[in-house]
Amino acid sequence: MTETDFTVIENIKLCGDVFKMILKTENPQDVICGQFINISIPCRNDLILKRPFAVMDSDKGKKTVTICYKVVGKGTDSLSRLKGGEVLSGVYPLGNGFKLDGSHKTVLLLGGGIGIFPLFSVFKCYPDKKYHTILGFKNKESVVLSGDFEQFSKELLICTDDGSMGAKGFITDSLKRNIDRIKPDIILCCGPSQMYKPLKDFMSGYDIPVYVSLEERMACGIGACLVCNCAVTENGKQHYKRVCKDGPVFNLKEVAL
Ligand SMILES: Cc1cc2nc3c(=O)[nH]c(=O)nc-3n(C[C@H](O)[C@H](O)[C@H](O)COP(=O)(O)OP(=O)(O)OC[C@H]3O[C@@H](n4cnc5c(N)ncnc54)[C@H](O)[C@@H]3O)c2cc1C
Ligand code: FES
Repeated sequence: MTETDFTVIENIKLCGDVFKMILKTENPQDVICGQFINISIPCRNDLILKRPFAVMDSDKGKKTVTICYKVVGKGTDSLSRLKGGEVLSGVYPLGNGFKLDGSHKTVLLLGGGIGIFPLFSVFKCYPDKKYHTILGFKNKESVVLSGDFEQFSKELLICTDDGSMGAKGFITDSLKRNIDRIKPDIILCCGPSQMYKPLKDFMSGYDIPVYVSLEERMACGIGACLVCNCAVTENGKQHYKRVCKDGPVFNLKEVAL
């Protein structure tokens, strides 16, 4: 984990307010899927805190790091205005990431909205798994990267809140319809925090591990300030863990909701 300078290679709009940024560094690091980068917003002295983004792809040979981000506030708006050749700095890789072992042959990826970005890196880290992917978006216009996910998935299911892509409803609805057919060995998930409680309730009826990547507001990003605490239950006792350092990936069973 080091503070590194990056040059913007590409910063393109994928749709509406979602952008993809490819960065190049002379100090490339090994990254585990699900880890994140904490970026200092350049030329904005008023934005003191770095902004965390999942590393969606990294290539040590090409010395590149790719992120996708949605413009939601001042920091992401400033990022969206950066042009090729401009420089920013970031600390990476941070957090624990998703881990699969030999028993995880069929992997179900569940991603909602901007939660799809950390999941994309899983294909590259573990290319030999059989992937089923369920992605959820607000509507047809907000669907991004579906072609990229399709390329690596045996099956890709897309659902939207308004049904404009066929399946209507949340990814948890699609999960309920398809889990017995897919029979996943493990589920990796990232999406809006509201989905974790219904997901946890439903999955309590199955003996399938579910790992979720949590999002919390962050300050230091390295485990020092405790801003990003989340409640977990271990051995029947509730305590707090840091999303930036102990996570952002947690076993859903232990996340207190
Ligand atoms: C580990 C991690 C990985 C992330 N990966 C991505 C990613 O790949 N792509 C992406 O678009 N976003 C990602 N995010 C969220 C991203 O960090 C925030 O959207 C960003 O920091 C907002 O900065 P801003 O200055 O534009 O908005 P602000 O002006 O700081 O805030 C605007 C709005 O966004 C909300 N917000 C800000 N930060 C967060 C946060 N961390 N979690 C939830 N809501 C937040 C605020 O409550 C507010 O409503 C990730 C967050 C974490 C913790
Ligand atoms: S952001 Fe400081 S401890 Fe997590």
